[in-house]
Amino acid sequence: MSPTKPEIIIIPGAFCPLKYSVADLKAHGYSVHGVELETVGRRDAPPDEGKDVVLVPHAYGGVPACESAKGLAKSVRQKEGKGGYLFMTDLAKAAALNLSDLSPEEGLVWANKWTQHSAASFGQPLTYAAYKDIPASWVFIEQDKSILPDLANKMIGNMEAVMGGRKVERFPVGDVGHCINMSQPATFAKVVRKALGNTV
Ligand SMILES: *[C@@H]1O[C@H](CO)[C@@H](O)[C@H](O)[C@H]1NC(C)=O
Ligand SMILES: *[C@@H]1O[C@H](CO)[C@@H](O)[C@H](O)[C@H]1NC(C)=O
Repeated sequence: MSPTKPEIIIIPGAFCPLKYSVADLKAHGYSVHGVELETVGRRDAPPDEGKDVVLVPHAYGGVPACESAKGLAKSVRQKEGKGGYLFMTDLAKAAALNLSDLSPEEGLVWANKWTQHSAASFGQPLTYAAYKDIPASWVFIEQDKSILPDLANKMIGNMEAVMGGRKVERFPVGDVGHCINMSQPATFAKVVRKALGNTV
């Protein structure tokens, strides 16, 4: 009997309403769900069918991903958000940072879809670092102009410092910008499948 594939939950980054392209992962037999962040827009209740669940957060999505996983880690279960809004003031500049692999014209089309974002959510401390209990991987975007590689390495180092000797496995990708799902959704799906140990 082949092992049951995990359920995949996509958690978008800051400012982003959920419009992830999930077709590539679905085409490979994964059941893929999306979450509208309360700090960006609406919310959804996740189903519970006794299956394993894999969280795939994008950038800032790691913060709400951790919060939402509180109390749900297998190891934990076995033992037993107000304020104003932030918005992008210079869309062309934001597109050049986050969509560096697209032309300025193409980037601006997508940047216009970014919405407002809860200001308070950026200032609140993380109350639960889910990676302490749940194995974590990192899609390492080598030419990311928003989260530069040095910063990404520091973030990974901070995670590993509380992971009791476990490592964050890096999955490097080149020639793509910060919003990889938008500019290269097939590459995104491929790297997620690779992180799941799938070769198909
Ligand atoms: C990709 O993600 C960005 C930002 O996270 C989002 O705004 C965009 O709609 C997504 N695009 C696709 C094609 O999934
Ligand atoms: C774009 O990049 C800036 C600077 O790194 C970041 O603050 C912002 O959240 C990014 N926007 C998106 C939609 O990823």
